[in-house]
Amino acid sequence: MPDSDGDSDVLANAGRLLEMVNSSWMPQALRTAAELGLADLLAPGPRSAADLAEATSTHAPSLHRLLRALVAIDVVAERDDGSFALTPSGRLLQADVEGTVRSWVIYQGRDVWDEWGLMLEAVRTGRSGRELATGKRGDWKPGFEPLRDDPERAAIFNKAMAELTRLNTRSIVAGYDFGRYPRVADVGGGYGELIAAVLAAHPDLRGVLFDLPHATESARPHLEKSGVLDRCEVVSGSFFDEVPAGADLYVMKSVIHDWDDERAAEILATVRRAMGASATLLLVERLMPERMQPGPEFRALARADMNMLVAHAAPERTEAQWRRLLESAGFFVAGVRPVTATATGIEAVPAG
Ligand SMILES: C[S@@+](CC[C@H](N)C(=O)[O-])C[C@H]1O[C@@H](n2cnc3c(N)ncnc32)[C@H](O)[C@@H]1O
Repeated sequence: MPDSDGDSDVLANAGRLLEMVNSSWMPQALRTAAELGLADLLAPGPRSAADLAEATSTHAPSLHRLLRALVAIDVVAERDDGSFALTPSGRLLQADVEGTVRSWVIYQGRDVWDEWGLMLEAVRTGRSGRELATGKRGDWKPGFEPLRDDPERAAIFNKAMAELTRLNTRSIVAGYDFGRYPRVADVGGGYGELIAAVLAAHPDLRGVLFDLPHATESARPHLEKSGVLDRCEVVSGSFFDEVPAGADLYVMKSVIHDWDDERAAEILATVRRAMGASATLLLVERLMPERMQPGPEFRALARADMNMLVAHAAPERTEAQWRRLLESAGFFVAGVRPVTATATGIEAVPAG
């Protein structure tokens, strides 16, 4: 029989596992709140559950329970009169506020939810959860292909990426000397969140935003809102074919991590062909540690790597892996330094 210390260890360890595995209600509660637009409805002030149920055409007792659940994760607060108010975190579920993560919440809870459930098959087969999930529906669509014919999914994805990037643009723009490069191309730049911030900070620079049509077709309003559209060319295409030539700096943020080594090398070769001998490539990516350990920082990296596994069958990479990849694609790594709390700038120039 285990002694009482043994019992409490077992209880604590089981509790830890149960807490992790039982946490899947949280993304779904957040996604439900985000899709119903509860934060925008609560932005002017507190409201009752019945009032919110009417405004969202939902089942009042169930919505009341959701609101009480959201209290437990500090997204709303219940007031003495029974009405609900937004907390500071809850405010970031509004569609159009500084720091919003609403689209990311919807994308994770709705559009890619089934991919996470296919991790076992992804590990067994080396294929991505996305490919397996779409395959089960009869059409194999890996990578970014599901976005091609689904404008709603594409819009949520692009907005979600822009939201995450927006949280870091100040740090990236302050942490890297973009001012040295008269013409900056953002390859795989989505809706242009980063290039817009770079151009806004450097009024003499010109920019190029390059991405697939699902992103570039709706990027102009974002560039216009930032007041940089007149200095930013928007080019649609695939980086497996060609990228615009003639930029002094090619930035790729959170792009190469979506691809396995073979495809990543093909993309880098296309970029290398477009670059003049004196141009620079800046990858902004996470660095995986050589050895994992328990802890919150490592959990965030593990999540990112597992996200790449299920979405793309691609890896987050260690510094050594980034260096090997770039060197094999004909680059010399000129510098590796942090540009945000979680992302690193890997600067490379054409070798030889
Ligand atoms: C993870 S997102 C990063 C977006 C943006 N750089 C950011 O950090 O917010 C990857 C981007 O690569 C783009 N992409 C994927 N395949 C592409 C291709 N074949 N050619 C050009 N862009 C592509 C996607 O459309 C998407 O915008």
